[in-house]
Amino acid sequence: MTRFTVGVLPGDGVGPEVTREAIGVLQVIGELFDYQIDTREYLVGAAAIRQAGEALPSRTVQGVLDADAVLLGAVGDPSLSPGRQSPEAGLLALRRRLGVFANLRPVSVHSALEALSPLRPERLAGTDLLIVRELTGGLYYGEPRGRTEAEAVNTLRYSANEIERVARVAFESARARRRKVTSVDKANVLEVSQLWRECVTRIAGEYPDVALEHLYVDYAAMRLVSDPTSFDVLLTENLFGDILSDEAAVLAGSLGLLPSASLGEGPGLFEPVHGSAPDIAGQGTANPLGAIGSVAMLLRYGLKLAEAAELVDETVRSVLHAGWRTRDIARPGARALTTREMGREVVRALKPHVAHGMVR
Ligand code: IPM
Ligand code: MN
Repeated sequence: MTRFTVGVLPGDGVGPEVTREAIGVLQVIGELFDYQIDTREYLVGAAAIRQAGEALPSRTVQGVLDADAVLLGAVGDPSLSPGRQSPEAGLLALRRRLGVFANLRPVSVHSALEALSPLRPERLAGTDLLIVRELTGGLYYGEPRGRTEAEAVNTLRYSANEIERVARVAFESARARRRKVTSVDKANVLEVSQLWRECVTRIAGEYPDVALEHLYVDYAAMRLVSDPTSFDVLLTENLFGDILSDEAAVLAGSLGLLPSASLGEGPGLFEPVHGSAPDIAGQGTANPLGAIGSVAMLLRYGLKLAEAAELVDETVRSVLHAGWRTRDIARPGARALTTREMGREVVRALKPHVAHGMVR
């Protein structure tokens, strides 16, 4: 039997709630396909600060480096008094330690959810894009950084190598999709963006079958909501990608639906795009489908189990198609499933696949 080890970092806020359902799905996949998937839990974020005194304990680092893939819930807790250590710093350090420089955030619109978006259905229909966000460089990490009472500084720095390696991920991804890369920058103002544009153009030369366009980030932000179907793969630096991916979530109807994969040389990190959502934490109402979609990405990119990944994605689509809704995607006044109930619906929809011989 093939064995895998998955590091699980539930983290803060709704993180533990959605992660529990995601693990339930992962376990069923193990049963269906006859894989032994061992999960090991570790602390990160505010939970780690409370229990271990630091946002990324060394036990967690060791654990994730030894795993085949890592599933993360969410990080962040505004109730924590601002000290030297922030929960978010733990997440950033984790990304850096894993070396996961390419963050993949797919955004598509399920036809049953088109009405949820503020965009007109005719603009939205057919939206299917992939944001490839650089994740371990740029303003998030650049030195020098710091502040005094009267002044603060952050540094935007990218090397050609950092740009080229994430650009390759974007072009490779485009090859498996509609063969178009839109690179986002601010080359009319920033030297870093000028280097970005040069490097991306150079890498594009290795992919003559993929079309490349360059857009300024301000215009890209506008086109994302005025003409979302014009995008296939969107390639961005770290901060631009952070901003554009929240904007793109509006297209899908809810941030709670979106999964992500962060890839590098070692084990990948898989997490829903939504944060810790402190306003609804502990209520059991969070949407677990972003975390479950992240399990699909973990299976596909982390464990290289494409068939299992496709089954999870397809099952999530069928559950939405059947009309099951959590609070964030339910019509006002309509009954909504809890986090647990939605997780159980997905598991219920997965199980018959054995009986029907869809899985070996
Ligand atoms: C995200 C989040 C993080 C980021 C925060 C929590 C540090 O917003 O994954 O998009 O900015 O990268
Ligand atoms: Mn973000």
